[in-house]
Order: sequence, then C-alpha cells, then structure tokens
Amino acid sequence: MNKIKLGILGGGGDSLIGVLHRVASNMYDRYEITGGVFNPNYDENISFAKKIGVNTGRVYDDFDTFIEEETKIPIEDRIEVVSVLTPNFLHFPMAKKLLENGFHVICEKPLTTSYNEALELESLQKQHEAIFAVTYTYTGYPMVRHMKHMIAKGELGEIQKVDVQYYQGWINPVIHDPEVRKTVWRLDPKKAGISSCIGDIGTHAFQMTEYLTGMEVKSILSDLNMLYDDNSLDLDGTVLIRFSKTVKGVIRASQIATGEENGLTVAIYGKKGAFKWEQENPNILYHITDDKPKSIIKPGHAFVSDVANDGTKLPGGHPEGIFDAMGNIYKGVAKALRSENAFDGEYPNMNDGVRGMLFIEKVVESNKNGNVWVHLDNQ
Ligand SMILES: NC(=O)c1ccc[n+]([C@@H]2O[C@H](COP(=O)([O-])OP(=O)(O)OC[C@H]3O[C@@H](n4cnc5c(N)ncnc54)[C@H](O)[C@@H]3O)[C@@H](O)[C@H]2O)c1
Repeated sequence: MNKIKLGILGGGGDSLIGVLHRVASNMYDRYEITGGVFNPNYDENISFAKKIGVNTGRVYDDFDTFIEEETKIPIEDRIEVVSVLTPNFLHFPMAKKLLENGFHVICEKPLTTSYNEALELESLQKQHEAIFAVTYTYTGYPMVRHMKHMIAKGELGEIQKVDVQYYQGWINPVIHDPEVRKTVWRLDPKKAGISSCIGDIGTHAFQMTEYLTGMEVKSILSDLNMLYDDNSLDLDGTVLIRFSKTVKGVIRASQIATGEENGLTVAIYGKKGAFKWEQENPNILYHITDDKPKSIIKPGHAFVSDVANDGTKLPGGHPEGIFDAMGNIYKGVAKALRSENAFDGEYPNMNDGVRGMLFIEKVVESNKNGNVWVHLDNQ
C-alpha cells in the first residue's frame, strides 16, 4: 500500500502531545513517519529519531532546512503532509511556509497567535488548495460524532441551551510561585499568544459547541481571572455565548480548578431532549428526555450512527480513548488526501481554527473592555 509520507515538527521526546500524534498516525496503517524536526536541539532531535526508528537522513537541523531539502526531493518521494506540534507561536510561521511550498498541514490548536494570522493562513490554504486539519482532538471520539449526527437529524429538536465546561487544575501548583510560573511557556505571551486558559482549552470548548450544534456563536461576554497582577494571561474564564436571541449558553474553562484533570463536559439541551457527555468517560453518552428513563449509548453497536462506528475499531465494550480519537482525525485527513468518501466533520478544518482564533481575541477584548458583549463576526 502506498502510505502517506508524514513529516513532524516538534513533538519530540520531551513533549506532551508528540506520542498522541505518532500513535494516531499509525492507527489505521495509512501513514509512515518519514522525517521532520522533533526538537530544536540537533543532538536530541537525531537521538529521538533513532529511538523511534525514523530515517535520520530525513531529520533536519531546523525547519528552514526541512523545507529546503524536502522540496529538492521528487514529488512522489517527498513528505506530503506535515504535523505542526510545536508551542503556539511557531504554528503560524511553520504552517505558512509549508503551504507556500506545497505541503498539506495538520496543525495543533490554537491555529496561530492572532486572528489576522489565521486569516492569512486561510487565504493561503485556499490559494494552494491544501488539506488543512486543526487537531481539536475531542471531535474524534465516536460518541461525539454520534452526538453531532443525531443533533443534525433533529433528535433533540430545536436547541435552546448549550453548556460546555473544560476544567483542569494543573496550573494551581505552578502559579503561586513567581519563579516557577516563569518556566511555563503557556503563561508566556511571546510563546502562548494573548491567552493561556481560553487559548489552550476554552478554544476546545468553543469548537465543540459549534461542531456539535452546527451553529455559529454570534456574540460573547467574558469574565477572566489572572489571579496575580504580574501574570498577564488568563487562568480561568466564564464566557456567556449567544447563537441567537433565544439560543444561548455558557463556556466555562479553568486551569486553576484545583484537583481537576481533563474535565471537558458537554451538555446540549433541545426542546425534545438532551445529550450529556464527559471526556473522562468518553464511551458513555447520556440521552435524557422529559418522558423516558435516561438512556446510555455506547460505541460499537449497530444502533449507533455510521460515522461513529467508522471510528470504532473493536466490538462494543472495548473502550475507545484519546489515542483512538486522534487516530480518527488522522483517518479523516487520509481520506481527504486520497479523495475518498468521508462523513461530515471527520477532521476539524481551517474554519474551526480561524473561528477559534476569533473567539480567543473576542474573549480577551470583552474582558479588557469591562466584561461587555462583543460580536463574533468573521471579517
Ligand atoms: N489537541 C490537544 O488536545 C492538545 C493537547 C496538548 C497540547 N496541544 C497543543 O500542542 C502544541 C504543543 O504542546 P505540548 O504540550 O506538546 O508542548 P511541549 O512544550 O510539551 O512540546 C513542544 C515540542 O516542540 C519542540 N520544539 C520547540 N521548538 C521547536 C522548533 N523550533 N523546531 C522543532 N521543534 C520544536 C520541543 O522540543 C518539544 O518537543 C501546543 O500548541 C498545544 O496547544 C494540543
């Protein structure tokens, strides 16, 4: 089989997210990791490549050399798609140059560090007709895909309330010591961008609301918490959202919800019923209504939608986890690269990335201007 040649930028042995992408890319036997730059330190870069069995001849000193050398290789042997897994501030310059040189891109979120950069990438992507995924990982879970499918089919009726919460606590042990907090790139505006909590996890919650409902948030009002005067980026935020005059909701995100792990929870309420789902128990989807007992839907059964079962590899009862969710996103990108039939929403795309950046900027603006309502219109 002609596997897709995948390059990786960042995601070295010292990284959090690298292993998730490597495992995900292998899950359906569609990709081979062909080369990349895993780490800015050349020795660490090469020793990591040897450790994971990647040909060191395609592992380069730095990103510019990657582009220079890869573009000399005949197109049929060249890396076709590149995953950008570096800290946020490198997403834009890397993705831009990749698009300009004819590569397809899989980019970690947040897409960039500003909305204008995101718009620039969007226009380049259109110009080069590139496949571009933004890895909002949680959309890859079978039960999330099932929710989206059933909401689109009208299972819940007209949506009237959306409540998405993403609570973590990992910054609590870091933030109270000024010296320790300086060592965290997610708290450094030069590396993280204009937001920490909303940029890192609030954006997942926002994307989830639009992904599931198929509707766009039209305006928001935010209240952010930085805890200390010498900490410029938010650690916690509550954001009221309005899809319309009668469809409203709330996004709550925190990195200082002490003791919380990766608590992304979703509740979508419609006139006929509601879905409730938690990332930490991703194989259980609750369906609640006024007139029937609460029901539990699990993956791997004939009664679950095709899009959910397409992302389920084993019979019911074998838990699908975060690696499987990312694997499904890579599978969606592989289908797009090979022009195969795909379901709606198999991978989060450029529009999700651009909307995410608009959301981050408007949340910061609303908070700065005294917690006021601001519109979320694409330019
Ligand atoms: N989708 C998700 O659920 C999810 C989860 C965690 C992180 N992320 C995103 O993934 C990205 C990386 O986060 P992380 O937590 O893995 O960061 P990290 O700090 O743990 O790892 C970053 C990696 O990038 C490498 N790197 C840094 N500069 C580089 C350069 N110039 N060239 C090549 N490699 C370079 C580092 O050596 C390291 O291996 C962030 O944008 C983050 O928002 C997404």
